[in-house]
Amino acid sequence: MAMSQAAMLAEKAIGHDDNNVTAQDVTNPANDPSYADNSDKMKALAWMGKNKVEMVEVPKPKIMEDRDVILKITGSTVCGSDLHLLHGTVVELQKGDILGHEFCGIVDEMGPAVKGLKKGDRVVASFQIACGDCFYCNQKLSSQCEKTNSNTIENAMYGGRTAGMFGYSHFTGGFAGGQAEYTRVPYGDVNLLKLPDDVPDEKGLYLSDVLSTSWNCVVDTGVSEGDVVAIWGAGPIGQMCIDFSFINGAKRVIVIDSNWRLDFIKERYPKAEVLDYSKLGKGESVTSKLKEMVDNRGPDVALECVAGEYAKGWAHYFEMMLGMETDTSEIINEMITSVRNFGRCGITGVYVGFTNHFNIGSLMERGIRLIGNGQAPVHLYWEKLLGMIQSGEIDPLKMVTHRVDVADLDKVYYKFEAKEDGMQKVFVQTRFSAPPCAGAPALKRY
Ligand SMILES: NC(=O)c1ccc[n+]([C@@H]2O[C@H](COP(=O)([O-])OP(=O)(O)OC[C@H]3O[C@@H](n4cnc5c(N)ncnc54)[C@H](O)[C@@H]3O)[C@@H](O)[C@H]2O)c1
Ligand SMILES: [Zn+2]
Ligand SMILES: [Zn+2]
Repeated sequence: MAMSQAAMLAEKAIGHDDNNVTAQDVTNPANDPSYADNSDKMKALAWMGKNKVEMVEVPKPKIMEDRDVILKITGSTVCGSDLHLLHGTVVELQKGDILGHEFCGIVDEMGPAVKGLKKGDRVVASFQIACGDCFYCNQKLSSQCEKTNSNTIENAMYGGRTAGMFGYSHFTGGFAGGQAEYTRVPYGDVNLLKLPDDVPDEKGLYLSDVLSTSWNCVVDTGVSEGDVVAIWGAGPIGQMCIDFSFINGAKRVIVIDSNWRLDFIKERYPKAEVLDYSKLGKGESVTSKLKEMVDNRGPDVALECVAGEYAKGWAHYFEMMLGMETDTSEIINEMITSVRNFGRCGITGVYVGFTNHFNIGSLMERGIRLIGNGQAPVHLYWEKLLGMIQSGEIDPLKMVTHRVDVADLDKVYYKFEAKEDGMQKVFVQTRFSAPPCAGAPALKRY
């Protein structure tokens, strides 16, 4: 039996904790009449099993709790994190779960206790669902809210748990996501940020996740004046980390990957240097190359923007396949051995559980700091980042390659996974979206 389903069964047997202030396991309005508003139907992207997603048609979600907001979705996207769901790497998905954790829209309906919003407001949602009033929420550390996820498996495995998350399995509470035409947002007054008129959806959408995540990755590892920063992974997260590293004073940024995305970086981020690990010579490694590139000592900071599920060599490939570990340690070991002594390494790419052959010796002996990890606390940063979009300091459109239609989203998942068609960050339109803004790609149907 797949690990995902085994964990789901265990959760059912043990039962949830009682810390939640919002309903759990509401991943599809079709699952229960009390979740559904039959006045309209919606298209949504559902997980149907390992490596299988499908478009489904289901009722629109209903207001279930006093602080709920129902959004008409006007923009969503596919994230590198969605691939971990597609692959079944993140556990506790159920057939029919609606995915999508990065979305913006228009307020359609509100529960009676929602303050500060009105019907018709254009807003972006954070990927995490926060209560706004617990130990972590009071510090705006919204990704670790203590009251929106009562999953006991996560608590036992991690010694604590994250906030609930949209479209990210029952492991994080079980909430329907925004790769749909409507979404229900619990604690809507906490988890939605109004978008001003000068910020179109195509720019504001990415405050949900990728912008806040990349910002957290850079500032929480302490990137500062004069640092040399090495970034593993040239996806959208790694790309925004380039801009944010320079903004925070980095002297040099080196990006490590192995495919066409490095050409994309050369074109759009000309200040960054690239290292293609598939083109290393005999006897060379990422570590030896980085030492050679940076004073024979190595970068000050290493940022992990890949994920633990992508093994480089056969050993970890088989260990993961056989269930001996959930994540490879290859990238984190490369980061540790590459940075200078007392260097910092931060992990933003998703790691699910346990890893073998971790180079703890290098970490200890050379004083390497593992800092700047984790699911990013979006609420801590999104207002500041919105200001940076408004002032033109950052332009999220730089990483957007495609505009697609929600009806084609299942096909888009497979294209995104295969990195076909030069696809990396997409903007997903619905029947409620405005036409493309200036500088945004035109619609492409699949
Ligand atoms: N911590 C958070 O809050 C948070 C939020 C969003 C996304 N993420 C995670 O960040 C990671 C990156 O997201 P993305 O959307 O940019 O993903 P992506 O899948 O688009 O990009 C990942 C890149 O890593 C590259 N890669 C694979 N193996 C590599 C290796 N050994 N060395 C160097 N590069 C390698 C791939 O070629 C790809 O270009 C994902 O794991 C995602 O789940 C974390
Ligand atoms: Zn994401
Ligand atoms: Zn909270």
